[in-house]
Amino acid sequence: MSHTIITTGATRGFGRVAAERVLDGSPEAHLVLLARGTAGTELASDLSRKGYSVTSIPTDLLALGSVRDAADEVAARLDSGELPRLRKLVGNAGALFTNDMTQSRDGFEATFAVNVLANHVLIRRLQERFEAASRIVITVSDAHFGDFRHNKGMMPGPSWTDPTELARISAFPRPETVTAGGIAYSTSKLAAIHLIHEYARRLPSEVDIVGYNPGFVPGTGLTREAGALVRLAMRTIMPLTTLTPLASTQQEAGRRLADVVLGLTPAQSGSYVDRTSEVPSSAQSYDPDRERRLWAVVEDLTRPFTS
Ligand SMILES: NC(=O)c1ccc[n+]([C@@H]2O[C@H](COP(=O)([O-])OP(=O)(O)OC[C@H]3O[C@@H](n4cnc5c(N)ncnc54)[C@H](OP(=O)(O)O)[C@@H]3O)[C@@H](O)[C@H]2O)c1
Repeated sequence: MSHTIITTGATRGFGRVAAERVLDGSPEAHLVLLARGTAGTELASDLSRKGYSVTSIPTDLLALGSVRDAADEVAARLDSGELPRLRKLVGNAGALFTNDMTQSRDGFEATFAVNVLANHVLIRRLQERFEAASRIVITVSDAHFGDFRHNKGMMPGPSWTDPTELARISAFPRPETVTAGGIAYSTSKLAAIHLIHEYARRLPSEVDIVGYNPGFVPGTGLTREAGALVRLAMRTIMPLTTLTPLASTQQEAGRRLADVVLGLTPAQSGSYVDRTSEVPSSAQSYDPDRERRLWAVVEDLTRPFTS
């Protein structure tokens, strides 16, 4: 039956692959792309030419007013019947900055704004619109483990502190450094997993929410702001790691994300899917007290955009 799927982060990287795979797997679906600049309209035209039903709404996840407006636009189109019933939301967009000093339009630390707050505004503004047997998928990262086994020394681990601090720039030592930017990234992904646990407790039982970890996927745009050497390595040497079990290709990561979205990968609400199967996330990611506190802070910070 016809339904609406909303996605962020489909304009490049493995999210682009996933968007087409999701449409292949549910040809009756209408895909709404939330994307900044002209990338969304270009991708919508591209996919429409291939026969899929796709529209885009300009959305900058670094500006929560833009996220709210996009959610309201979706809600209005659902209410008018222009869009079929809402069944899926994919929060795949993510950002990594080269420091912990970049601010979003609203003055939040930019990594936390994109990876945590933007998804919260989307979920909170649209949660009443989901119809039975719906699924939200948020792309997280095994960087949240913070150990060599999971990040191969490529990303510093998370450093938890009070969420009011995490939402601000300069939460970590030497905030001007790439290391601080990496800590902000892995901590934001840990925060996203904590919130998935809290959403799973709070969302209506017919709406489930799952975190998807793609593993290391070289060649995407995630490190596009890194120095020239890192970018060169990501383009040349790192893709060779996809020949080993250490990394996945964008095709593999996109197909696996689509499988979670389509419900082909078994996953309970609140769970963490590592590439193809549900596994526990890090031990520190299960902490109901921390999750309640994070929820309260995120609710407070986003209230101007959710109520
Ligand atoms: N690559 C990896 O090794 C890896 C590992 C673990 C987790 N992840 C996660 O996987 C997801 C996809 O990442 P990727 O590697 O495919 O990176 P990517 O190529 O940089 O894709 C990121 C996507 O997010 C969108 N996005 C970022 N900031 C945005 C903003 N302010 N407003 C609107 N859209 C925005 C990008 O749109 P634009 O085209 O406008 O920039 C792009 O579509 C992210 O959540 C990332 O954290 C990646």
